[in-house]
Formats: sequence, C-alpha cells, structure tokens
Amino acid sequence: MQKEIISMQDITQFKTRSEEFFPLEWYRKMLNNNPVYYHEGTDTWNVFRYDDVKMVLSNHEIFSSVGYRTTIGVGANNKEGSIPEKVNISSVDPPQHFKSRSLLSAAFTPRSLKSWEPRIQQIANKLVDDMVPGTIIDIVEDLAGLLPTMVMADLIGVPSKDSLQYKKWVDVLFQPYTKENQREIDKKKQQTAKEYFQYLYPLVVEKRSNPSDDIISDLLRVEIDGDRFTDDEIVRTTMLLLGAGVETTGHTLSSMFYSLLYDDQDLYGQLRNDLDLVPKAVEEMLRYRFNVGKRERFVKEDTDVLGVPMKKGDVVIAWMSAANMDERMFENPFKLDIHRKNNKKHLTFGNGPHFCLGAPLARLELNIALKTFLQKISRIEPIESFDLENNLMNSAPGQSLVHLPMKIYK
Ligand code: HEM
Repeated sequence: MQKEIISMQDITQFKTRSEEFFPLEWYRKMLNNNPVYYHEGTDTWNVFRYDDVKMVLSNHEIFSSVGYRTTIGVGANNKEGSIPEKVNISSVDPPQHFKSRSLLSAAFTPRSLKSWEPRIQQIANKLVDDMVPGTIIDIVEDLAGLLPTMVMADLIGVPSKDSLQYKKWVDVLFQPYTKENQREIDKKKQQTAKEYFQYLYPLVVEKRSNPSDDIISDLLRVEIDGDRFTDDEIVRTTMLLLGAGVETTGHTLSSMFYSLLYDDQDLYGQLRNDLDLVPKAVEEMLRYRFNVGKRERFVKEDTDVLGVPMKKGDVVIAWMSAANMDERMFENPFKLDIHRKNNKKHLTFGNGPHFCLGAPLARLELNIALKTFLQKISRIEPIESFDLENNLMNSAPGQSLVHLPMKIYK
C-alpha cells in the first residue's frame, strides 16, 4: 500500500524555493527555540538537535520504522514498481530488518566496491572530457544529473547502448509528487514501471545462466537462511536501489558545485593544489549542503525520552540536516570548513541499523567525480545572471538544482 505523504511545506512554511534549498535561518530558530516541536496541522513531532535526531534514527526499540506515513514519495504504485517484501528494508525493524539488509548487502561488498572504482572513473572521465573549456556548461545536465544513473545502469548490468533509455525511465519513476498531481504522476509511473520491468526481466533471466560482475548477478547468487531472490524480485529490487541512490547522489553532487561557486570561492583553487583534500571537502559538503535530509519514525510505546510526552503511534520526523548544524556537535556549524575535525560525524547518511547501505558507493562516486573535474578544469566561475530561485525544483530529497551554469577554463 502506498504510504500517505506528509507535506513538509505545511510544517516549514517556506516562502521560496531558495529558502527551502538552504534553510539556515529556520534550522537556527528550531535548534534554539523549538528543538522538539509538535506541528498540529500534520500531526507530527519534529526533532532537530543532533543527539535527539541520532536517537530517533537509531533506537528502534522506541522509534520504529514501521508506519503508514512518509516524508518521501518515490517509485511506482503498481505490481511492477513495488518493492519485494523480502527487501522492504526501510519500513521494518530489527530483527526482521537484518535479513532484508543481509540479502541486499550481497551487492555492496568491499570487493564489489573495489571492482566498481575503474568503471565509475571511466564514466566520470567521459562526462568531463565532453565538456569544452572556455564555454559555459551546465553542471547538472552535464555531470550531476547523469553520473549517478549511468553508474547505477552500469553496475546493475544494463548494456551501455541502452543507458539513455534507462535514464528516461529512471527520471519518470522518481519524479516527485505534489498533492495536486499525485494521480496523474502515478499513472505515468505505473506505465514506466511496466516498460522498465519488461526491459530488465529478460536481462535477469539471461544472467541467471551467464552471470557476470554486476549487481544483478550478485543478487542472483545470494542466499540467506535458504531464501533466494526470484527473477521478478531482482527487477523490483533494482528499483529500490535506484530510488535510494540516484537522486540523492545527483543532488549532493550539484550542491557540491554550488558550494564551490557560491559558498567559498577560494576552495576550488585550494583543492586543485592538493587533491588529497578532496575526501574532506566531500564530507564537509555532505554535512553542510544536503539541505532537507529528514526521515520519519513511529513511536512504539508511550515515551518521554525526548522530554515531552509522546504517544504510541505518533509520527516523529528526524531532521538530519538540521542536526548537522547543531553547535553542540559542530563548532561554528554555519560555516563551510573542510578542515573541520569531526565533519564525518554528519547524519546525512542516517545512523543505526538503517545507516545508508550505499554510503560507500555514494562517497566513491562523489570523490571520483570531483577529483576528475578538478584534474581537468583549472578554474570555474559563476554566471552573473544566474537566479537560484528559478533553477530549483521540488524533488524527493528537497529542493534540487535543475540547472547550474558556470564558465570553465582549461
Ligand atoms: C549522497 C547520497 C546518499 C544519501 C544522502 C543517502 C541517504 C540515506 C539515508 C539518510 C538513509 C537512512 C534512512 C533511514 O534511516 O530510514 C539511507 C538508507 C539507504 N540508502 Fe542511501 N543515501 C545516498 C546514496 C545511496 C546509494 C548510492 C545507494 C545504493 C545504490 C543507497 C542505498 C540505500 C539503502 C538500500 C538504504 C536503506 C538501508 C536500511 O534501511 O537498512 N543510498 N540512505
């Protein structure tokens, strides 16, 4: 059953897209004045401080992942688009969660990661080589919007000749809903999920007899307590991975370039002079620029662990991006500082049993993309006429850049 989507706009009351893209003032206000805030209109508790957010995400004895409401609506609402029960990983608690997670983990071993590195590098090289120095490029269209889908298509095992068609399906499948357009988008998604399924199913069947080095083949091999994936489940599991890994990584990548253009204009030169700083920069931008990262949980039994009486069944929204700005955890949190000692402690990938399974892959993609770009492009400049408000769109992770033009130099 499709979960009911909680309207974030009703809670935040942001007036503009730009404000939602980077709501520093709102976070500051909530962290200081309303750290545990009940919002009547949506009937939700909202939690902002670092320790509280961490507890809500990780303490599954008190805060369960099983519930019928959500802050994020993605995927398609039909048979072909539904997540197989055995990997319904985000909406179950331990111990059931452990088995789903183990099944999926087969596709994310350190060995896989090592063998994926050259393939991701090849994709990054191609995309950056296609850019023409001395011109204005759009980093969203030319890199951030493409790389994560191309990587996932390749790792899943889609032949490269089909990767453009694949991207078109992925774009529709993960197009965000609004309250008004939900029915129309649902229909489009259902049709696309059918086409996607019909395309991928024969590929899975073929890989059962001829396995290779890709996620489909890994999932075909895995067996936990005698349980294995059927071909149909594998197709639908790839949709789960796309839903979790494409928009999130693309969004972070475009935000990283936004940061280099507008948050700290000296940083690009510093990173070019010392490429070893790239992992630190990636980590700090994950902390600082992943704007509206939040996840929901459901109170299991009446509790006051957060200092207020919460009732069984209450919805609690953990605002990870606000927690990333909590001065109790990060010194001078509203400043981008790649040398910060503890920036890896950000909660952008969650915490506890549901900690992002794809975090090592996301980190690898972000590092390779940024480093490859830095190696080939000597300087970047913002475009004066760029207007942030008109270049944002509502998406599952929050407001995402749809265009980010910049001038590049060899
Ligand atoms: C910058 C990119 C990414 C961000 C910010 C991100 C963020 C998150 C967060 C916050 C969670 C925890 C959800 C919760 O506590 O309920 C999560 C879970 C998950 N992520 Fe990611 N993610 C990213 C990339 C990826 C990638 C590339 C993949 C795989 C292709 C992936 C796969 C997953 C899966 C399977 C889960 C569910 C884990 C579980 O419930 O046990 N993510 N992600």
